[in-house]
Amino acid sequence: MDSNFRIRKVAKDDLPLIFQMEEEAFKPKHYPLFVLRQLFDIAPELFLVAVDELDDIKGYCFGGINQEEGIGWIFALAVAKQEQKKRIGERLTLELLGFFRNKNINSVQLTTTTDNDPAIRLYEKVGFRIVTETKDYYFDNSPRVVMKLEMESQNREDLN
Ligand SMILES: CC(C)(COP(=O)(O)OP(=O)(O)OC[C@H]1O[C@@H](n2cnc3c(N)ncnc32)[C@H](O)[C@@H]1OP(=O)(O)O)[C@@H](O)C(=O)NCCC(=O)NCCS
Repeated sequence: MDSNFRIRKVAKDDLPLIFQMEEEAFKPKHYPLFVLRQLFDIAPELFLVAVDELDDIKGYCFGGINQEEGIGWIFALAVAKQEQKKRIGERLTLELLGFFRNKNINSVQLTTTTDNDPAIRLYEKVGFRIVTETKDYYFDNSPRVVMKLEMESQNREDLN
């Protein structure tokens, strides 16, 4: 990642731009703006942006936690097209994993489309493995993989 980029928590005013990026990256299965707003309201610490030296947003990711099962979820990750392949996606993912680790999460999961090689490779690079392939995840017959990363208990204990 270019050293001129940094990761910070999202701000409320970032949300409309993130929505545009979300639409560009995932349409028609993108999160609506009102959902982004509510995710921001309930878990702003799990909503991160990568910004350049002018504080312009080049990428984002956000997640959630299933507290009962100790599972962290990555809901979305995207990097602006012209900024891809600069390790921004990897940095955002590692940062979010750090938050999960601090919250004593046992494992982290996500889903993506079966043909999304860049995403699958990125997630494998940071330790995720494909655990299932399903056509029913969104009840619409579209194939998705579920990927999972087991947190190392050693690391979790170190951070407590
Ligand atoms: C997937 C995505 C977030 C990757 O972001 P990125 O910042 O370009 O990725 P990085 O530069 O951090 O790459 C990290 C690793 O991911 C893999 N990777 C990233 N882009 C890749 C590509 N186009 N082809 C193959 N592998 C790729 C590589 O293993 C890379 O490591 P390396 O540079 O050592 O080879 C980006 O392509 C994107 O926004 N795609 C559209 C939205 C999307 O599909 N999001 C994921 C859905 S869950």
